[in-house]
Amino acid sequence: MTEQPGPAFEPTPPGARILLAGATGYIGKVLARELVARGFRVVCLLRDGAALRNAELLPSETHIVNVCDSAAMSTLNLGDEPVAAAFSCLASRSGGVEDAWAVDHRANSNVMKLARNYGAQSFVLLSAICVQKPKLSFQHAKLAFEQELIQSGLAYSIVRPTAFFKSLAGQVAGIAAGKPFTVFGDGNLTACKPISENDLAHFMADCLTESSRHNAILPVGGPGEALTPRQQGELLFRLCGRTPRFRQVPLSLFDVAIPVLAGLSRLVPSLGDKAEFARIGRYYASESMLLLNPVTGEYDADATPSWGTDTLEDFYRRVLTQGMAGQELGPHKLF
Ligand SMILES: NC(=O)c1ccc[n+]([C@@H]2O[C@H](COP(=O)([O-])OP(=O)(O)OC[C@H]3O[C@@H](n4cnc5c(N)ncnc54)[C@H](OP(=O)(O)O)[C@@H]3O)[C@@H](O)[C@H]2O)c1
Repeated sequence: MTEQPGPAFEPTPPGARILLAGATGYIGKVLARELVARGFRVVCLLRDGAALRNAELLPSETHIVNVCDSAAMSTLNLGDEPVAAAFSCLASRSGGVEDAWAVDHRANSNVMKLARNYGAQSFVLLSAICVQKPKLSFQHAKLAFEQELIQSGLAYSIVRPTAFFKSLAGQVAGIAAGKPFTVFGDGNLTACKPISENDLAHFMADCLTESSRHNAILPVGGPGEALTPRQQGELLFRLCGRTPRFRQVPLSLFDVAIPVLAGLSRLVPSLGDKAEFARIGRYYASESMLLLNPVTGEYDADATPSWGTDTLEDFYRRVLTQGMAGQELGPHKLF
């Protein structure tokens, strides 16, 4: 946890009005429920149609607005009552270059200004641990907003989680169906401490009342030891009662694809995002989702904070018996 200078801590009282952007996402949905369960009155910003797809949000106050549209956001009327704090779980659903800047930077910036106009004292941001080693557009966009937030004068909690459970579930159905587990290299190039959406939502909601979480950048992983992709595969094979079988893919696959796609995108601009997706793939195949030691430049599993009680093993058991409901990867299968 990195402490930064900022305004003094004031716990947000129960019953306070809380602004939430990104309430229809994987983390945002659970966070909305968690805040309501804690007695906060949640004000959700949704884009057109989202409210209908997410009936569980109906008890909250909802406003339909394009969060990427600065003019629309600056004239949005949230009523006479102030908001005490704001949360953003907004994220580009594609990770494409333009969308990342539109959502991870501009939309967040619009939400922060709206929150400040309505009297918010603090802002809790869902970011990502991977921004500590930025190479991708969405990471640069997130970092640009983190800086704006730190300099905003609002009390801030920048939550940088490691890997979500859903991101490690893509091969469960394949293993159950008898396929091998695919890894990059020997499967030990990276590691992470995966965290469940419930544990992360608890951690984020606690930012309203825990003084140590104010004016801080908060890397956070789930409970237990860090796991490599090979260990994740071994765990799945054990739960399925099968002998582990791995398919090893060389990282050099990306080193061929990225320059080819980047070169072609100069002729066909629409291929630009394909090159970015290949860069995202390479990043996650070769970088750990753990705290980076700035002195050694190495990832440090022991220094990565653990939080919560939900384990990947229990999650895999549940997906094997009940399927992926609620854990769909959506358009961004890579992150
Ligand atoms: N996956 C991982 O393992 C992992 C690990 C650590 C950190 N993270 C970070 O967590 C974030 C992703 O969280 P998540 O999986 O909960 O996200 P998600 O399910 O993709 O949800 C994204 C949210 O942003 C909204 N949104 C996206 N584009 C929008 C637009 N143009 N206008 C209005 N709303 C828009 C979505 O609304 P709609 O429902 O209307 O689309 C949704 O509410 C990313 O920042 C990622 O870097 C991910």
